[in-house]
Amino acid sequence: MKLTIFGATGKTGRFLVEQALAKGHTVTALARSPDKLAVHHDLLKVIQGDIRDSEKVSQAVAGADAVISVLGPTSNKPEMTVSRGMDNILAAMRQHGVRRLIQSAGAGVRDPQDQPTVVHAFFGGLVRLLSPNVVKDMELVVEKVRGSGLDWTVVRVPMLTQDPATGRIREGYVGKDIGPRLSRADMADYLLRQVESKTYLGQAPAISN
Ligand SMILES: NC(=O)c1ccc[n+]([C@@H]2O[C@H](COP(=O)([O-])OP(=O)(O)OC[C@H]3O[C@@H](n4cnc5c(N)ncnc54)[C@H](OP(=O)(O)O)[C@@H]3O)[C@@H](O)[C@H]2O)c1
Repeated sequence: MKLTIFGATGKTGRFLVEQALAKGHTVTALARSPDKLAVHHDLLKVIQGDIRDSEKVSQAVAGADAVISVLGPTSNKPEMTVSRGMDNILAAMRQHGVRRLIQSAGAGVRDPQDQPTVVHAFFGGLVRLLSPNVVKDMELVVEKVRGSGLDWTVVRVPMLTQDPATGRIREGYVGKDIGPRLSRADMADYLLRQVESKTYLGQAPAISN
């Protein structure tokens, strides 16, 4: 498949690009700093740019079969960078007739099917206190994706680690099915599998190890 990946230079994004290429997918990545991507591959095209640049985003999305975004705010400034970029991504998908979108977010962005315990509420509140704009930006991202009318899946994750892939991923909803940690290598594998799965179309499951 032809995949466009946003957030490719991030800690999860790098696993995602490597795994996508290993599976034989053609990958286009939009990156502010292409040098951060150490991979060079015939099936990888990197476009230098910011997600707030609608022309560059459109260029990156053109011709894709699906879009995977592991974008996340890189500061707690009240700039709502990722959600502003999301407007460009969604517009570009509509412009080019690309329907499938997989978007990651923190499990603190709640879903109606969650049943958060007191512990979840405490840690969710703590993150909100320490990084309010990060949380707000990602809540806006998920809101925009949910309202997009596209074939979306939001994959919500707990604390991410650099641990090796285990191949054992729990899925479901907060307070019912998942644990507190997830390896980024497992997350990348799960996101890639969602591209061809319809199980969570229009849904926002949470996953963990
Ligand atoms: N870290 C955690 O424990 C945790 C917990 C819960 C949820 N999550 C979510 O999981 C996902 C992956 O997390 P991560 O820790 O792997 O992320 P990360 O390392 O912080 O990577 C974020 C990516 O977004 C890109 N980005 C941000 N603003 C951009 C802009 N204006 N234009 C272009 N690219 C931009 C960054 O590019 P640069 O390389 O140029 O900065 C980077 O590639 C994110 O959706 C995050 O919200 C993470």
